[in-house]
Amino acid sequence: MEYSFPHYLLSKQSVDDRALNKDVLAALTASLPEEPLTITEVGGGIGTMLARLLRWEVISQAEYTLVDESDETIRFASSWLPGWAGENGLETEESDPNELRIFDSRRDVRVKLVRADIFDFIAQQPEPADLLIAHSFLDLLPMPESLPKLLSLTKNLAWLTLNLDGVTALEPVVNADLDTRIERLYHETMDTRPSGGDSLSGRHLFGHLKQAGAEIEMAGASDWVVYPVNGAYPADEAYFLKFILHFFEESLGNHPELDPAVFADWLGKRSQQVERGELVYIAHQIDFLARIG
Ligand SMILES: C[S@@+](CC[C@H](N)C(=O)[O-])C[C@H]1O[C@@H](n2cnc3c(N)ncnc32)[C@H](O)[C@@H]1O
Repeated sequence: MEYSFPHYLLSKQSVDDRALNKDVLAALTASLPEEPLTITEVGGGIGTMLARLLRWEVISQAEYTLVDESDETIRFASSWLPGWAGENGLETEESDPNELRIFDSRRDVRVKLVRADIFDFIAQQPEPADLLIAHSFLDLLPMPESLPKLLSLTKNLAWLTLNLDGVTALEPVVNADLDTRIERLYHETMDTRPSGGDSLSGRHLFGHLKQAGAEIEMAGASDWVVYPVNGAYPADEAYFLKFILHFFEESLGNHPELDPAVFADWLGKRSQQVERGELVYIAHQIDFLARIG
């Protein structure tokens, strides 16, 4: 199987659509200032959150800056977003591969795709936006020291979504002891990554946001719950699950506490569960809407 990170982000869309906490989203919608808005999304990947906000009619007039350090995701975004817009009845104008306008008679969003490490981007002191979005991103960063820097990107609101909170569960059980050990070791690899990361980022953000001077307007669970319906996964979620197993393989492939043959057998059994439409995957996560200042 070919593992493509942009394909993983595409397959994640339907899982995220279900997961995002709708009370937190309603609070965001109620709090947004009058349009046109300025929005900065950090670690924005291929632009699926922008597509979602248009699809869900959360925004219609905005200047949207998407920052991601990966050349691959930024290049993918610059071709995927116009394609998505066309399929959804919107027009696109491109003044540059990384600057586009997506519009129709009701909606008009000017998009800037920036390939940069987020801290280099912040160091340039960009104008703070009305809204900062960090989706599936904060649990990858060193905390709490990253938070004040990130919050400098907004004048007012921050919507911080899908922050992992210490539970990664796979059903049905393959081997209870081994399953528990693999979950623990998987979280440990996140907690000890040199670039930062926290498998308990969800619960820790309550304290970190307060310490950074932000007020939590609303928080709620945004768990990923992936399961087969009549023996088959919706949309492209079988690919999503295979990619999650690939993350396990990449992070724990040479772990001293795991016998390579036992781990390979475990991965094989989990992969077969996906192919048979049996695997259920749950990751507990938390969304926040925070107000700054
Ligand atoms: C888990 S992905 C989420 C992408 C997107 N938010 C989504 O959910 O579809 C995390 C993204 O953060 C980007 N990233 C990681 N570290 C970064 C950094 N220091 N600065 C900017 N982007 C970063 C990665 O390239 C990746 O696209």
